[in-house]
Amino acid sequence: MEAGQADRTELAKEQFAGLFGKKPSVTVQVPGRVNLIGDHTDYNDGFALPMAINRYISVAGAPSSGGGVRVVSETVSGDAILNVDTPMKHPSGWERYAAGLLHLARAAFGELPDFKAVVTSSIPKGAGLSSSAAFAVALVGMAEHLTGISLDPISKARLCQKAEHIYAGVPCGIMDQLAIINGCRDHAILLDCRNCKSVHVPIPTDEVSLLVIDSGVERALSDGVYAVRRKICEQAADCLGVGALRDLSLETLNSQSDRLDDEQNRRARHVVTENERVQAFAALARESDWINAGILMRESHVSLRDDFEVSVPELDLLADEAEAIGTSGGVYGCRMTGGGLGGCVIALVKPGAEKRISAKLANRFDYAFGRLPTVHHVRGIE
Ligand code: GLA
Repeated sequence: MEAGQADRTELAKEQFAGLFGKKPSVTVQVPGRVNLIGDHTDYNDGFALPMAINRYISVAGAPSSGGGVRVVSETVSGDAILNVDTPMKHPSGWERYAAGLLHLARAAFGELPDFKAVVTSSIPKGAGLSSSAAFAVALVGMAEHLTGISLDPISKARLCQKAEHIYAGVPCGIMDQLAIINGCRDHAILLDCRNCKSVHVPIPTDEVSLLVIDSGVERALSDGVYAVRRKICEQAADCLGVGALRDLSLETLNSQSDRLDDEQNRRARHVVTENERVQAFAALARESDWINAGILMRESHVSLRDDFEVSVPELDLLADEAEAIGTSGGVYGCRMTGGGLGGCVIALVKPGAEKRISAKLANRFDYAFGRLPTVHHVRGIE
């Protein structure tokens, strides 16, 4: 395990004690996630295969008598009294998101005491590892402890998703929240985003290692591209008279392609083929067939790059260089992961080859862009 990643909770506790002169009464630790395969499928009622990882957000808190809800977060360098009654009064940003989330949580629980909390994190921000969903799940976890009321996992995921829609302005799917809430050691989660059912798929650490390589291109989902992609997918489903793109096979899509314009056709083709790849990948993972699973990762990258158009040159270079290293050099597969337009690629590699592959990819990236990417060797949650 990398130094400093194991437990941010201790740090949050120390910071809480330092700031407020007493020990916190509640601590919550929540992981980030990386998506192995299945991007831009969740809001199309489709499939995804994310994995909760050993990067965490921790919250240490205690109820307070009066003073409202105060959250101090090193992640966003913030210290704010949250306006839980009227969250939109916050100009925008993390305060509005956190206040809005707690506004929704209070409505769900019927109560929410005043409290103080300190947040620490080892999930890189803006890298596509779901730091914002983890922040939300952690704050709701804190509210659950303080009220003694628990939400079932799906309601909790939906509440956090709603906060992201309303208060962060991102019409995200449900993958991140479910992956974080349902995460389990050494397993990815095969999610059916229509009914929110999840099945665990083993990703044994003695067979494969995961490298998450951050391009350093900060992705901003709220800049509108994500929302536009989602809209086009919904329009395509409408034109073809199905509830969601999940309901289409490639054959049906191809036979009705004249009812869609070029952009709708390409976006839909990505979603339909990606859904197939997710299910095929899960089956191959169960058989430890990492070579063929890796081929699907490459196909996923190409589809996200060409049909869905959410890659950037930095991600393409990393994916192409990993492909060039190939299985003989220890790389099974590599693809951009998450919403795209920046963020990370994920590479599935042979255990023992991580350092050599990281160095090679970093070197090639440096040659092309004049700076180094950040490589994280991640594992499932402990
Ligand atoms: C972001 C969203 C998710 C999902 C991915 C793309 O991470 O929050 O809901 O749509 O992008 O797969």
